[in-house]
Amino acid sequence: MNVVKSILTKTNFSKDDIIRLLKANEDEKQIIFKKAFNIKEKYCKNKVYLRALIEVSNICKKDCFYCGIRKSNPKTVRYEIPIQKIKDLIGFAYANNYSSVVLQSGENAGKGFCKKITEALMYTKQINRQTGITLSCGEQTTDTYQQWFDAGAERYLLRIETSNRELYHKIHPVDTKHCFERRIEALKTIKKIGYQTGTGVMIGLPFQTVEDLAADLLFMQNLDIDMCGMGPYIEHNDTPLYRYHEMLEPVQQRAGQTLLMIALLRIMMKDINIAATTALHTIDKKNITQAIYCGANIIMPNITPLKYRENYFLYKNKHSVNSVDYHLENLKNELNNIDHIIDYQSLGNSIHYLRKLK
Ligand code: 5AD
Repeated sequence: MNVVKSILTKTNFSKDDIIRLLKANEDEKQIIFKKAFNIKEKYCKNKVYLRALIEVSNICKKDCFYCGIRKSNPKTVRYEIPIQKIKDLIGFAYANNYSSVVLQSGENAGKGFCKKITEALMYTKQINRQTGITLSCGEQTTDTYQQWFDAGAERYLLRIETSNRELYHKIHPVDTKHCFERRIEALKTIKKIGYQTGTGVMIGLPFQTVEDLAADLLFMQNLDIDMCGMGPYIEHNDTPLYRYHEMLEPVQQRAGQTLLMIALLRIMMKDINIAATTALHTIDKKNITQAIYCGANIIMPNITPLKYRENYFLYKNKHSVNSVDYHLENLKNELNNIDHIIDYQSLGNSIHYLRKLK
């Protein structure tokens, strides 16, 4: 039997197995994608859940070497969407049948910001207790995580970015604000508080190896995450990591490797939520349906008003699924081609999380 087919019959993959799968050729990839697709159909059905994405603020106290909204980028025009506007956007999401909203921001631990998120959460629960909320606002204190959980947030996404400590410190400044161990602690705290916990990595970073990517998948499995958002690294001219852009694989290849990572994670963690991310969409919008075919089950249309969105410039040509009807109609048709439907009724909670609660 072909090596890939034989590895795929195992219930648990070793690191070497994953490395081999990540080196799959085109024919072998199709076998892996098909297996991931069948697993997703069995555990998550042929349904896709939408999350309305609101990029609440690009103010950030961190200086990650890859990110366009890093503190030291003077070209970034900073904004914080006023609370009333955030409430209007949440109302818009609800009125347009999104059963779930994601509030994302740079890392801002100010008291005012923390209160604003709390107010937005309380408002959401007030207009409709059924709207699910995911937060993606970086590292915060345990008290803040708890306060937001108590105000109604049920999911938190904090990417580890890479599970290789050494690589982590190559792509971040080495100081207490950017500490690998603290980030892992934060993930554990989020989980302990009771959030559906999500993490993820960037794929195709300079210095990253196939061994690193295999370790990333095992890291997510060991942490027993409920959700994942991972995407290709895309260089940004005004960041320190840009100096390595010549050593990168072509973006299409980084996107292809991301699809393979999604498929392998689906095979390893059958009932978690996996997002088809904005960075994949930026490289080619066809990647969104392709990611769904490979095992993802979440799409995040961006409902941030354009005047703010253009300043949430994490990387080159950042582009996301648009919330306007025309784009959603197109998406619906593309999903239809792979026999998938958008589920507007359900909250789309992580089945993995619900199963653990029982
Ligand atoms: N390329 C791809 N993803 C990026 N992010 C930040 N900068 C980049 C980049 N240059 C991702 C990080 C972060 C998320 C909000 O955006 O993974 O966690």
